[in-house]
Amino acid sequence: MNAFTPPLPLRAETPAAWAEAALADPEALLSDHAHCEKKAALSALTLAQAFGDQPRASVLLARLAEEEMGHFRRVLEALQGFGWTLRPDGGNAYAQALHRLAGKGLLDRLLIAALIEARSCERLWLLEQAAAGHPVLGAAPWLAFLLELERCEAGHALSYRGLAEERFGDQARARLDWWLDREAEVVRALPWRSVVH
Ligand SMILES: [Fe+2]
Ligand SMILES: [Fe+2]
Repeated sequence: MNAFTPPLPLRAETPAAWAEAALADPEALLSDHAHCEKKAALSALTLAQAFGDQPRASVLLARLAEEEMGHFRRVLEALQGFGWTLRPDGGNAYAQALHRLAGKGLLDRLLIAALIEARSCERLWLLEQAAAGHPVLGAAPWLAFLLELERCEAGHALSYRGLAEERFGDQARARLDWWLDREAEVVRALPWRSVVH
């Protein structure tokens, strides 16, 4: 059983064996994760613009985008450090499946962002556990980076949920309940590959 509590009450727990499958091709895993961090930054920047009438929220989102840009740079540096290259972006089937279920409004964009962050956080934790014995990714600086990413993404999940609840109140809480079931269905249906999700 996972000794891990995700920042949102996810309804499909990822089995620990997933991490072994994800670590089968670490270069692909890191490449995919670099693309995810870049998309997280772009998404946060777009949302910062949507909150232009709420300075506190837009500043929070701009800061979040900066953090994601920093993660993007550091994953690229890790690829470089291992002597690997950034592979082409194969797309993110998980995020695409969530977006296909979404309405057009801001509420779903915020809640999807929160869910992606929370799932990333769970999977980074599993990777951190499994990477400890890995011949390449078991190095202490890399494990420390995974832990840092996991904590940072947990904060992002809570920030997105907080923004949704501040703006949409009970509607956000009800919609998150609906989304937690959908996210569990989506994540259970995806094959395991060398990607975070
Ligand atoms: Fe990130
Ligand atoms: Fe994040």
